Amino acid sequence: MANSFQAPKGVSEYFPPRSALFERVRDSLLRPARLAGYQLIELPVFEDTELFTRGVGDSTDVVTKEMYTFEDRGGRSITLRPEGTAGAMRAVIEHGLDRGQLPVKVFYVGPFFRAERPQAGRFRQFYQFGIEAIGVDDAALDVEVIAIADSGLKSLGLSDYTLKITSLGDRDSRAKHREDLVKFIAKLNLDEETKVRASKNPLRLFDDKRESISRAMSDAPLLLDYLTSEAQSNFESVQEQLKTLRIKFVIEPRMVRGLDYYTRTTFEFEHHSLGAQSGIGGGGRYDGLMKELGGAELSGIGFAMGIDRIALACEAESVAASNQNGLDLYMIALSPESKSAVLALVHGLREAGVCSDINFGDRGLKGAMKAADRLGAKYVAVIGDDELNAGVVKVKEMSTGDESAVRLSHSDLLSAVTSRK
Ligand code: HAM
Repeated sequence: MANSFQAPKGVSEYFPPRSALFERVRDSLLRPARLAGYQLIELPVFEDTELFTRGVGDSTDVVTKEMYTFEDRGGRSITLRPEGTAGAMRAVIEHGLDRGQLPVKVFYVGPFFRAERPQAGRFRQFYQFGIEAIGVDDAALDVEVIAIADSGLKSLGLSDYTLKITSLGDRDSRAKHREDLVKFIAKLNLDEETKVRASKNPLRLFDDKRESISRAMSDAPLLLDYLTSEAQSNFESVQEQLKTLRIKFVIEPRMVRGLDYYTRTTFEFEHHSLGAQSGIGGGGRYDGLMKELGGAELSGIGFAMGIDRIALACEAESVAASNQNGLDLYMIALSPESKSAVLALVHGLREAGVCSDINFGDRGLKGAMKAADRLGAKYVAVIGDDELNAGVVKVKEMSTGDESAVRLSHSDLLSAVTSRK
């Protein structure tokens, strides 16, 4: 026998029955975004490498350690997208979407790639649902974006999570803070690699998970203490409006996030049952990104939610989708003649929106009944030549065992399996 294959290390995969949970998470996150007027943007999974080095920032782990970068056959440097914001911004600029109605409101869902060390909840191919609202600078829009993420999580039945917010300030706040932070960092005893990272973006040290660094940074100056009055009142307005919407949050002054483009409002959702990989989603405002990528000087705000981690959170909170695929009717044909009649009936029922299936192959009645049971069918109907000749079949409701005689027609079967729903 030939060797079989395994999926590449560290990728997340979904197949039945758990793929039902993936779908539910994706659709639940998507719904509030659609209701708020966000529309689909479908982008390539690979882009010019420089889009990410410039967009995401060359002080980040994502760019320095985690990108899947390769040369294509034309000698161009290509990278599998590690995140969605830079690509969305590229598309907005390239296609002039910012010349239309503002804010541009888009959402995306799909696979993203980071060459991280795989562990529970951390994958090399993972799935994000994200939204971006581009071109309008308004604290109400920050709140809308956060509220959409929160509504999605709540609609899944999740509650064991915290929303953490902070402000990373505007250009002036950051310049003053940077000056003091650089002075503070200069006094620390750091290795060469960390010094290089700090020289590119000193905020990165707040994000360093090493115990020695976080201890050293415990007295570091915090951006929140350096906000200009504009940045401060913007942050206060975001907090006020979150309160009006009854969205609970905590202020986390040390949060900097793993990507360099953030300014002002930044946030993360943290789930309490996921151990080290507790970040189930996050985002924020990015004032300079569009200009940095060659576009107009417009601000934007967005988030990305990690579908894989949210699926794990649903399981941890026992709000997972049931394994049943919602099959309304399973029809079992006992002869070749009844098989084609059954297929035609089921075809009509499916067109009428009834989830229905039949016994394919030739496994006999016992095997077919077992299949109906495994598939969680609500109703089962067995059709042999007698039923076909009489034009009547017994439809059995599996939960009660009740049987009723139903004429072999689409409309009679349709009302038999939909009447008690
Ligand atoms: P991010 O925080 O890097 O933000 O990723 C968002 C979410 O993706 C994380 O909170 C996490 O749930 C999930 N995620 C990230 N890496 C992995 C991984 N290796 N395995 C499993 N899940 C993962 C962004 O990507 C920004 N583009 C969000 C954004 C949009 N900001 C503004 N607009």
